[in-house]
Amino acid sequence: MDYSNRILCGPMVRISSLPFRLLALEYGADIVFSEELIDYRLMQCVRVENNSLDTVDFVVPGEDRPMLQIHKTREKSRLVVQLGTADGQRALNAARLVENDVAGIDVNMGCPKKFSIQGGMGSALLNHPDKVKQILETLVNNLSIPVSCKIRCLPSLDATLSLVRTIATTGVHAITIHGRTRDERNSDECRETFIQSIVQQCPPNVVIVTNGGSTKISSYSDIQNFRLRCGPAHGVMICQAAMWNPSVFRPSGSLPISDVAKRFLQICLEFDNHLPNIKYVLQRMYGDLDSENQFYEKMLSTETEAQIYTLFDMKNEYEQSPLEERRLWREKLRNQF
Ligand code: FNR
Repeated sequence: MDYSNRILCGPMVRISSLPFRLLALEYGADIVFSEELIDYRLMQCVRVENNSLDTVDFVVPGEDRPMLQIHKTREKSRLVVQLGTADGQRALNAARLVENDVAGIDVNMGCPKKFSIQGGMGSALLNHPDKVKQILETLVNNLSIPVSCKIRCLPSLDATLSLVRTIATTGVHAITIHGRTRDERNSDECRETFIQSIVQQCPPNVVIVTNGGSTKISSYSDIQNFRLRCGPAHGVMICQAAMWNPSVFRPSGSLPISDVAKRFLQICLEFDNHLPNIKYVLQRMYGDLDSENQFYEKMLSTETEAQIYTLFDMKNEYEQSPLEERRLWREKLRNQF
């Protein structure tokens, strides 16, 4: 597994569940990331093979929905699980649980949210290079799969370069750089020139992946142009542009969002995705386009899966899917521990 010359569909909380990842792969993403999973939460999970769906499910005992669901054939060799962590040993314990079911482990060192920073995770790590080293070296030295991390820029190029050089000594395969600082929002300009300089000056043993370009991306060629402007960076990670329309990965052009939504809904039926996640993803797809629109309003007001499939003219597909079989599996999950 190598991130060079690859297009990555990056980690997004509540978006990057199995159906969304499979959709991104179908449309042409080379590698997909899970959402960030906090190490101590993941460690609570039990690994269960779900042979009827060909998935491996990681489930907290007593819960009937997996925290992480991995497809054994359609994504395993291209899936990276992202961890939120503040400690090398804890990260390793969590990573070991999924090590044989994924292609790589990534550490989130960029999240600016209060929850992460208070726990010493995410962007709190950016100012603690010793901690960064401890976490990454523990993972690199003890795992059999590639390790990467995702950072944000520091306020100066020199400080960012210094951090990248420190990280490169740990033996990680790749560093994704989101071209904004911890205090900058997605509406601020992505620091493409920072990333360009880092690509030119970083040690050759590490792959640099650029991230943060979505506000200027609505097609496959925009993805390539963003990568070129940043160095060219060795790899490119796309998040919001994929959330708005996952078919952005198609070299032959993006598809209308209604077609994409229907394909998403079909995959959700295969994997028993539940209503809150289905609605959340669809709202992000339609949000900016249609928030004034009646269709969007109708989507927001749906209260059952049957209603949402009816709204998308997919009532028959919904009724013909193995609803009872899936209900029994959920019951089994809930009761088996
Ligand atoms: C994110 N981002 C994020 N980053 C991360 O490292 N782990 C995560 O779980 C998440 N979750 C998340 C959820 C949602 C809804 C959004 C919009 C973003 C940040 C994301 O990975 C990325 O760094 C930024 O969105 C910038 O890249 P784009 O969107 O310009 O391609």
